[in-house]
Amino acid sequence: MLQRQRPRRNRRTPAIRAFHSETWLAPQHFILPLFIHAGQGRQPISSMPGCERLSLAEMVAEAQAAWLEGIRAIVLFPKVEEALKTSDGQEAFNPQGLVPAAIRLLKAALPDLMVVTDVALDPYNCDGHDGIVRDGIILNDETIEVLCKQAVAQAQAGADIVAPSDMMDGRVGALRDALDEAGFSHVSILSYTAKYASAFYGPFRDALDSAPRFGDKKTYQMDPANAREALRELALDEAEGADMVMVKPAGPYLDIIAALRQQTTLPIAAYQVSGEYAMIKAAAQNGWIDEKRVVLESLLAIRRAGADVILTYYARQAARWLAGQA
Ligand code: PBG
Repeated sequence: MLQRQRPRRNRRTPAIRAFHSETWLAPQHFILPLFIHAGQGRQPISSMPGCERLSLAEMVAEAQAAWLEGIRAIVLFPKVEEALKTSDGQEAFNPQGLVPAAIRLLKAALPDLMVVTDVALDPYNCDGHDGIVRDGIILNDETIEVLCKQAVAQAQAGADIVAPSDMMDGRVGALRDALDEAGFSHVSILSYTAKYASAFYGPFRDALDSAPRFGDKKTYQMDPANAREALRELALDEAEGADMVMVKPAGPYLDIIAALRQQTTLPIAAYQVSGEYAMIKAAAQNGWIDEKRVVLESLLAIRRAGADVILTYYARQAARWLAGQA
């Protein structure tokens, strides 16, 4: 049989495969999420084996270890004490609060580490919603005023990148103005542009005890059925001055990452969320899949779809695997 076209020729040896490999992973592409709490020590998170809530001292130790493994960015998520939660979420902009304290410690220990912060009210709000609630409605513009104070407090503490995950309309432009007016024109905005109302966030809400106390987040987070709507959010975030845009979750939304990649010149981040982590972890612990190969493949697929950077709970482990360590 005469076969002129033989694609297998390009797969024949490791060298030829590496020669034209289109996508690759490196620790510089990862953002490591860290859960922090005001108490002492490390607290396990049952639905996320291998992840823990960290005291501020443990957080610094974790960031230092990650830095040595090549991780250059972390994102902070606080577990806020019940007594500090209010309906207006004002602990979110307390300059002496847990997150500003954490940022100052991190910047003192690791000045070149990029510290990313979450801008949203759910850890601080007694309703567990990302915005202020009145009569069962999540208020948009009133919430943005608090988000602006939150982002400025984070910038004052030394945050490099603020990442609004709240999905209120117009918050990127408002944050840009607030940061600029406060003298933080150098602080970047990583917008959660296409954040879906996803069941894959379940373990994260366990970790922070931040599940909504009533209803769901469908009036602000996007409908998983929709793709065009992500492009509309992208256009708004670009016009409002976002420096980077995000798709979340990542693995089940590769088409959205690819669609944004076609449409924007901005860097794209994708968030491999808690439920994606928990599923891989559970299957691996049962011996049903090869954890290392599945994790690296899942991250590679997210990059192939068009993401520049990936937020992943596997950041440290993946960095070690990429360096040839166990
Ligand atoms: C909250 C926030 C959530 C996540 C990141 N920021 C949860 C939510 O929107 O309910 C989820 C991350 C994950 O599941 O890993 N603003």
